[in-house]
Amino acid sequence: MKKLLIFGLLPLIIFLVTSVQTKSTLEISESTSVWELLKALGEPAPNHEVNTSMRGYSVAMGKVIVEDGAGSVNGKKVRLQSKHFVCTSCHNITKEDSDLVKVDPQSRLDYCAENGIPYLQGTTLYGAVNRSSFYNGDYEKKYGDLVKPARNNLREAIQLCAVECSQGRRLSTVEMESVLAYLWTLDLKLGDLNLNDNEFKQIQAHLKDNSKDHKDAIVLLKSKYRQDSPATFVAPPTDRKKGNGLTGDPANGKKFYETSCLHCHENERYSFFNLDDSQQSFCYLKGHFGKYSHASVYQVARWGTPPHPGKRAYMPQYTAEKMSEQQLADLRAYIESRAD
Ligand code: HEC
Ligand code: HEC
Repeated sequence: MKKLLIFGLLPLIIFLVTSVQTKSTLEISESTSVWELLKALGEPAPNHEVNTSMRGYSVAMGKVIVEDGAGSVNGKKVRLQSKHFVCTSCHNITKEDSDLVKVDPQSRLDYCAENGIPYLQGTTLYGAVNRSSFYNGDYEKKYGDLVKPARNNLREAIQLCAVECSQGRRLSTVEMESVLAYLWTLDLKLGDLNLNDNEFKQIQAHLKDNSKDHKDAIVLLKSKYRQDSPATFVAPPTDRKKGNGLTGDPANGKKFYETSCLHCHENERYSFFNLDDSQQSFCYLKGHFGKYSHASVYQVARWGTPPHPGKRAYMPQYTAEKMSEQQLADLRAYIESRAD
């Protein structure tokens, strides 16, 4: 009897206990974190997980830094990060594309306008922790070697932006872990990936069967969102008087002006240069559009204004991914239609 227990029953019990333990307990739904799911399928964690042994960090502090730039959290003061901007001057903190695979400035503009969020030069911080490369494409041209440490490292990308884009100070280590902790609350959820029923079931089947290799499931999930935000710089038209040769649609130009330009320029929110819905604004913009001047929309939209780190606010350029040539023509058509 004893022998039976040791050689028969005991291994069976051990087998049952371990198989229950290794079987995934993750129940998936629309609100499941994409990273939790990937990790359950065996994907190694990224290098930007929060260092939880850091004392004093908090999601609340991260939120204050990103949205307000300064403030106080549980009686602790957060020193002003930048005199000129907050992170949300240039980045949304919600989803800004209905399809996370497509890079299409027009459908993004439509999505932003429909959802009442601004349309900005920086990529949304929603899903930033789901990306693995940063400052992609032509940003290397702008920031040179500064991009190297930031390319595959979210912490370095945040520091680069804090100093070069936000034109403020570097974050302390506690602040950095706090910003990351906050960004982890903005990670993609399964519902954002628009899986069809079949794909959803496939993922579920993988989770239930740990004898399987889960590579396919990981590839499937990752095919539903971009792990980078591409960036292509575009020059202004060579003949600024003539423009880029496209016929503009004023209605779409209005959408761009109101959803994007006014976010920073209305009531001098993030810029000393005021823009509004008055004829005066449109006349000024129209008058300089075709000129080779710092006040030409072609100039500032495509090259931005020159940064003087720490000293003054600058305008970030719109890459091809953030403003199409058609949108630029639309903007001109709208401005001209309102200037007369
Ligand atoms: C003046 C505008 C501006 C401000 C302010 C700003 N950023 Fe950025 N940021 C950009 C632009 C432009 C990029 C270029 C890449 C992109 O986002 O597509 C960028 C890139 C990034 C990236 C890399 C995104 C990617 O996928 O390549 C991160 C992360 C980031 N910023 C975080 C922050 C944080 C955190 C703050 C606040 C401390 C901040 N940014 C403030 C404009 C800004
Ligand atoms: C992220 C914020 C932001 C957005 C969005 C933005 N700008 Fe700017 N813009 C600035 C800042 C900052 C300056 C620099 C001027 C200053 O010192 O305040 C500037 C400068 C300019 C200038 C130069 C003014 C001059 O006389 O030198 C023009 C023109 C301009 N912006 C037009 C636009 C238009 C048109 C749009 C929309 C397509 C737009 N801006 C979108 C922040 C922004």
